[in-house]
Amino acid sequence: MSVDKSVRERVEALRREIDYHNYRYYVLDDPQVPDAEYDRLLRALQDLERQYPELITPDSPTQRVGARPLDSFAEVAHRIPMLSLDNAFSDEELDDFDRRVRERLKTDASIVYAAEPKLDGLAISLRYEQGRLVQGATRGDGHHGEDVTQNVRTIPSIPLRLIGEGWPEVLEVRGEIFMPKKGFEALNRRQLERGEKPFANPRNAAAGSLRQLDPRVTAERPLTLFSYGVGEVVGHPMSDTHSGNMALIREWGLPISPELGLCEGMPACHVYFDRMAARRDALDYDIDGVVFKVDDIGLQERLGYVARAPRWAIARKFPAQEELTVVEDVEFQVGRTGALTPVARLKPVFVGGVTVSNATLHNMDEVEREDIRIGDTVIVRRAGDVIPEVVRSLPERRPSDARPVILPAHCPVCGSAVIRPEGEAIARCSGGLYCPAQRKEAIKHFASRKAMDIEGLGDKLVEQLVERDLVANPADLYALTKEQLAGLERMGEKSAANLVAALEQSKETTLGRFLFALGILGIGETMANTLAQERGSLEAIEALRLQDLIEIKASQARSLFKALSEYGAGDTPTGRVTPPPGLKWYHPVHLLMLEERFPLLRGLLAGGPKGLVNEPGVRIEGVGEVLAEKIVTFFRQAHNREVIDKLLSAGVHWPDPRPDASAPRPLQGLTFVLTGKLSQARDHYKALLLERGAKVAGSVSKNTDYLVAGEAAGSKLTKAQQLGVKVLDEQGLLERLK
Ligand code: IVH
Repeated sequence: MSVDKSVRERVEALRREIDYHNYRYYVLDDPQVPDAEYDRLLRALQDLERQYPELITPDSPTQRVGARPLDSFAEVAHRIPMLSLDNAFSDEELDDFDRRVRERLKTDASIVYAAEPKLDGLAISLRYEQGRLVQGATRGDGHHGEDVTQNVRTIPSIPLRLIGEGWPEVLEVRGEIFMPKKGFEALNRRQLERGEKPFANPRNAAAGSLRQLDPRVTAERPLTLFSYGVGEVVGHPMSDTHSGNMALIREWGLPISPELGLCEGMPACHVYFDRMAARRDALDYDIDGVVFKVDDIGLQERLGYVARAPRWAIARKFPAQEELTVVEDVEFQVGRTGALTPVARLKPVFVGGVTVSNATLHNMDEVEREDIRIGDTVIVRRAGDVIPEVVRSLPERRPSDARPVILPAHCPVCGSAVIRPEGEAIARCSGGLYCPAQRKEAIKHFASRKAMDIEGLGDKLVEQLVERDLVANPADLYALTKEQLAGLERMGEKSAANLVAALEQSKETTLGRFLFALGILGIGETMANTLAQERGSLEAIEALRLQDLIEIKASQARSLFKALSEYGAGDTPTGRVTPPPGLKWYHPVHLLMLEERFPLLRGLLAGGPKGLVNEPGVRIEGVGEVLAEKIVTFFRQAHNREVIDKLLSAGVHWPDPRPDASAPRPLQGLTFVLTGKLSQARDHYKALLLERGAKVAGSVSKNTDYLVAGEAAGSKLTKAQQLGVKVLDEQGLLERLK
């Protein structure tokens, strides 16, 4: 029995609509509908296909994953070989390329080049026949590649059928498959969680993901594509320029690089290259250079090919960010918080544009996971301004006398015990401010520009001050005299006087800077300012208790209560009890918090699970359990209190951080959440709300008073409606702001 015509039409219409939304999303980067609507369309199509399986076609958007795992990949012969590119490693080499092009073409006129980033992924050939994707193949040796059709079909940005019209009967699109950095990081996090080995870089991850015999694995990997050329074309002429071809490909539904540009003559090419080099780290995908291609296809044909590369294109490469070298030794550096960082002493190597002889190994977990040993040949990476790091070792090149890296039991600087709590990656020196290394770093941090901004107190000076026992903590700085300072190396009367003046000047500061300068673990500049703004005074911050900051929800309270009551009755103090096993959500801070509220377990148990539920008294965005504990314990410690008191009596002071404390605050006590598209930036409204005393939170909860919902508001609006939170539109917000 044949299926009703109206059903067939409905199925086809749904497929067209889904294909179109894919195009808006992946190619134009301008989605037209929210994800929920897209999901609805896909589900409607799935339902119909389930009802009428005879209507399923291989190019239906529901059929991306489905094929069974293969035993091996079939071989594909490339009818037009997939070439590689010549490289230029300097501006001069790029100029030489241009000169050769113009000599061959016998012209003095400047050439128009199409420029696009050189993506660091792997080349792919995608064959469309009558607009349908029939084959995906890797480059292989350029003449023969592997048939990875099953896998490329799972990549959401690759259309299973072309959209629009006018495409040739046979169109082979070539491009690069790659994994965006964000997706790569998420994938590696997942790998670690599953106890599997993380990938060394996005390129390896992309290659490993595409060459999977089971397409379901590929489907889970965040791969995507930028097209950069055409291979075989049958039956319909394309454009007479490369850029024109790219525009056509894009119209037919394939993504191309949004960075594609045209450069007339070499000066424009150099500018393009420099701009791209400057933006390299900000892009969400790895690139290793810029490809310049003669844009005019007629000229390309006249130039032709040499060996394995076209004469009309060149890759201007960035300096390599990864190189091989040998680990000669590993030492441990002690940071401000006592963290011991293993640092590899390397055989000097030129990488990322500079000579590198030290590189961080991050922490012992990393060293152990990557099994890095002294004597190993390793990959060193220096990307942008980031400190050089050892990425991994090449065990196959390991000499027989390679030695493992051993975490010292005692701090290499002060000899205090080194502590590495089980399961934690970071080992710390337990010496605190007794440890000269920590003292130096703490004082450098205190004096730094974003903290107390003490001009003229450089690293070298701090080191001398600590080594000569002139300062043991930041407060001692303010007791230094001109005479003491003048006696130091490379300090004259004049600079000593200047430094004393700078110290004096630094006393006038802000609460945010002061908090940041104290160097509380986990409190960066932004969090310090948030705390200052939200609490308004040092006293208010010092008075914070864990129970003000931490929230125990009803569901958590139930499981915690159950575990605690099974664990112990009687008068055992809750504090310092070993945490009951099997508490999944458990965090040690919750126990500390309960200890704060209930000195005796008996008291805790008397209240039942409800007694454990607490709402945080003070909501400070970004302060979770870990940070709450750091803040509260910092101010409880006597030696920290002592330093703070000394600083205050030395005359450190600041103005009230709250914007105009005397101004009326009509929205005091109300919490707003902003979502969706508003006619002004959200930060604009946020500032207006804060000025009026309101709080602005990032997510909707039952403590939210108003949700301001702009256009295309999504899940927050739904949540607000579920919780019965009042919803305002922009007009409503403006009225409340009046
Ligand atoms: S054009 C005949 N454009 O680089 C020229 N290649 O070293 C074919 N690649 O195998 C290549 N980004 O995988 C071209 N924008 C881009 C590219 C690019 C990356 C890769 C490609 C090729 C390799 C050559």
